[in-house]
Amino acid sequence: MSTIFFLLFLLSFTSSVLSTKDDEIVLLKIKKQLGDPDILQSWVKGFNFCDFITSTSLGYASIGCTNTGRVSIIVMEMSSIVAPFPDAVCGLTELENFIIFNMMGLYGPIPSCITKLYNLHQLIIIKTSLSGSVPSFYNHVNITEINLSVNHLSGTIPSSLSTLPNLKTLVLSSNYLTGTIPPGLVHGSFPTLVLSNNNLTGELPKCYGWVDFSVINLSNNRLSGDASFLFGEQKKTADIVLAYNDFEFDLSHVEFSDNLHALDLSHNNIFGKVPESFATADGLYSSNLSFNKLCGELPQGGNMCRFDASVFANNTCLFGNPPSPCFMSIALAPAPAPVPVSEPPF
Ligand SMILES: *[C@@H]1O[C@H](CO)[C@@H](O)[C@H](O)[C@H]1NC(C)=O
Ligand SMILES: *[C@@H]1O[C@H](CO)[C@@H](O)[C@H](O)[C@H]1NC(C)=O
Ligand SMILES: *[C@@H]1O[C@H](CO)[C@@H](O)[C@H](O)[C@H]1NC(C)=O
Ligand SMILES: *[C@@H]1O[C@H](CO)[C@@H](O)[C@H](O)[C@H]1NC(C)=O
Ligand SMILES: *[C@@H]1O[C@H](CO)[C@@H](O)[C@H](O)[C@H]1NC(C)=O
Ligand SMILES: *[C@@H]1O[C@H](CO)[C@@H](O)[C@H](O)[C@H]1NC(C)=O
Repeated sequence: MSTIFFLLFLLSFTSSVLSTKDDEIVLLKIKKQLGDPDILQSWVKGFNFCDFITSTSLGYASIGCTNTGRVSIIVMEMSSIVAPFPDAVCGLTELENFIIFNMMGLYGPIPSCITKLYNLHQLIIIKTSLSGSVPSFYNHVNITEINLSVNHLSGTIPSSLSTLPNLKTLVLSSNYLTGTIPPGLVHGSFPTLVLSNNNLTGELPKCYGWVDFSVINLSNNRLSGDASFLFGEQKKTADIVLAYNDFEFDLSHVEFSDNLHALDLSHNNIFGKVPESFATADGLYSSNLSFNKLCGELPQGGNMCRFDASVFANNTCLFGNPPSPCFMSIALAPAPAPVPVSEPPF
């Protein structure tokens, strides 16, 4: 009996001959690997898995199917399960969206067989105790989104991820990743790259200067060097978050575009002046330049009234008194060598 089961399971990895029956066998195996949790008690031989959805105090689980009745979507949230990653999932060859979250009892590595799910579009694994490395997807054309935030993943970001031509969203925040950021990780228009809260080092590859991001968030790492190439008058990037790193570059000649919406450069070693375009960038509503090595007089007018003193605090020698009525108080570091306010140094 177990030999038959094994053969059928093997069969499910080979293409063409696959059927909904094979998917049922795989699902029952997943249930077993998760320790037969109560929430999946209706997963029995012959169950109508394409319509499965359950939401109880124990969590949430649902399955979606292709129009040929093959499993294409799995969503699971089961906070009480304690088990390794159910690697039977790799037998669901038509899987397109795999989403699990809030499963802190899930431990061990993400099996590399997951990279062989060629129909996968979206891999979302959030808030688990899964450890080991980020799966080394390679030349995978269908995958558009990988979000593995808040897990225990370690090691480096696999450079093979840059071979995924349609990867538009890569989120690896809040893990224990080390090493440098490989070039060319995301593609398409307005991609999202979030690598915050890791232990990444080195410089950001210059090629990212060619990308207009929806969001680039590299905060809370140990990244260094220049990142000024992310900016420019023609750039369409909306959110740039580089806070809590060791970035070190001259802000004086950086041009902020009107498309920039949120900017956090706090807690770095950024020097030079706050450029005039900081005040004229129309779309800039949220900003933080505090805890850097900026110096000189602040620009005035424009959108300066949107920012309070904490945005500029704890720099080397910033000063200035933007005349805007929406500035309640200015408590900046004292000027070592004040220049006349009537002659802005820009
Ligand atoms: C991508 O997915 C489509 C259908 O979703 C499938 O037909 C195709 O084989 C996949 N591409 C690759 C390279 O596997
Ligand atoms: C990561 O995925 C979750 C679940 O879809 C989503 O809520 C979150 O916004 C994603 N994070 C980013 C930065 O896209
Ligand atoms: C950037 O990442 C940090 C840490 O993960 C998070 O707290 C913050 O909300 C993110 N900011 C943006 C704009 O995505
Ligand atoms: C980051 O790396 C440094 C040096 O290797 C190490 O001392 C530190 O504990 C690491 N931090 C985290 C959060 O992993
Ligand atoms: C800017 O960052 C500093 C330091 O992290 C923080 O204390 C301050 O509240 C922030 N200001 C704004 C407006 O976010
Ligand atoms: C930041 O600046 C404020 C106001 O000048 C000051 O009171 C505070 O001690 C500074 N914090 C640090 C950590 O330097």
